[in-house]
Amino acid sequence: MAAPDGLRYQKIPLTHGSGAIPALGFGTLIPDPVATRQATKAALETGFRHFDCSERYRNEREVGDAMREVFEAGKIRRQEVFVTTKLWNNNHRPERVKPAFEASRQRLQLEDVDCYLVHTPFAFQPGEEQDPRDGQGQVIYDSGVTLVETWRALERLVDEGRCKAIGLSNVNLEKLREVVDAARIKPAVVEVESHPYLPEWELLDYCRQQGIVLLAFAALGHAMEPRLLDDPVIVAIANRLSKTPAQVVLAWAVQRGTALLTTSVTPNRIQENFELSPIPEDAMQEIRDKVATRVRFNTVVGTGVPGFIPRAR
Ligand SMILES: NC(=O)c1ccc[n+]([C@@H]2O[C@H](COP(=O)([O-])OP(=O)(O)OC[C@H]3O[C@@H](n4cnc5c(N)ncnc54)[C@H](OP(=O)(O)O)[C@@H]3O)[C@@H](O)[C@H]2O)c1
Repeated sequence: MAAPDGLRYQKIPLTHGSGAIPALGFGTLIPDPVATRQATKAALETGFRHFDCSERYRNEREVGDAMREVFEAGKIRRQEVFVTTKLWNNNHRPERVKPAFEASRQRLQLEDVDCYLVHTPFAFQPGEEQDPRDGQGQVIYDSGVTLVETWRALERLVDEGRCKAIGLSNVNLEKLREVVDAARIKPAVVEVESHPYLPEWELLDYCRQQGIVLLAFAALGHAMEPRLLDDPVIVAIANRLSKTPAQVVLAWAVQRGTALLTTSVTPNRIQENFELSPIPEDAMQEIRDKVATRVRFNTVVGTGVPGFIPRAR
């Protein structure tokens, strides 16, 4: 194993929560339960120490099984791993927050959770249905609860000691400001889509000023077209530095001060994504100046309807 000083081990202290979040995170948005379990175990064994989960992914139990198996084998301790999970849109009513959190925690088979996020700022009709629709197939939103009311319920979870930090996901700057201004416990983490095709510099600047960690999802562009990993600027840097395009993009994310999430069900890619080392300042600047494409791959931020979850299970 490499010396514990590389990018792969970098941690960002949480200003508004306890502890520190490893910059390099592994996402568990994996539709197949068997693949979820295998990938989570492989990622832990490879060295990933930060895992991103959600009740919406419907696989917290498989993630929990994989973690438990690895912890029980004795090589990795629970305390070494940072685990985030998220509240889904049908649970925004304050009285639904704690039961949803407890259900996630139990599926993950953990005593506590390091970070709990509001998955999107959109409240859906309260109930068990994660994707409530009317007769015309339109999403049924819930106008009876505000994001700040939901946030207050998350603050209470921190007070009760079952989660160490709280945050938001899929918010724009305006929504984030609204919560920051009203919060007693400020968001420790904001999870949004971000990569060189969607750098979100303005949001990142605001997060820096407020001591909030920007956690970038789809860090490799989610393997969608236009393919970030085929971008000529990225490929040229990768060739020059004898790295893969994925390693260049992930190093860029850590070096500009964000945490990130990447996902793979392929063991050699999990290894590749973990094998990070710094890229030089001129490469950082080249990505900022020369990558001109701008794409948002995930539409969840506009509607609350997940863009990357392929099918209901
Ligand atoms: N908060 C939210 O609303 C939200 C939304 C989306 C995602 N997320 C989180 O962010 C995580 C990461 O998002 P993402 O899945 O879009 O991540 P991503 O890493 O950008 O994309 C994953 C895709 O890239 C491929 N890939 C991974 N490593 C590669 C490599 N080294 N070379 C070439 N291709 C590679 C994977 O293929 P294989 O698996 O086939 O190897 C997979 O198809 C999710 O799992 C989830 O936890 C959160």
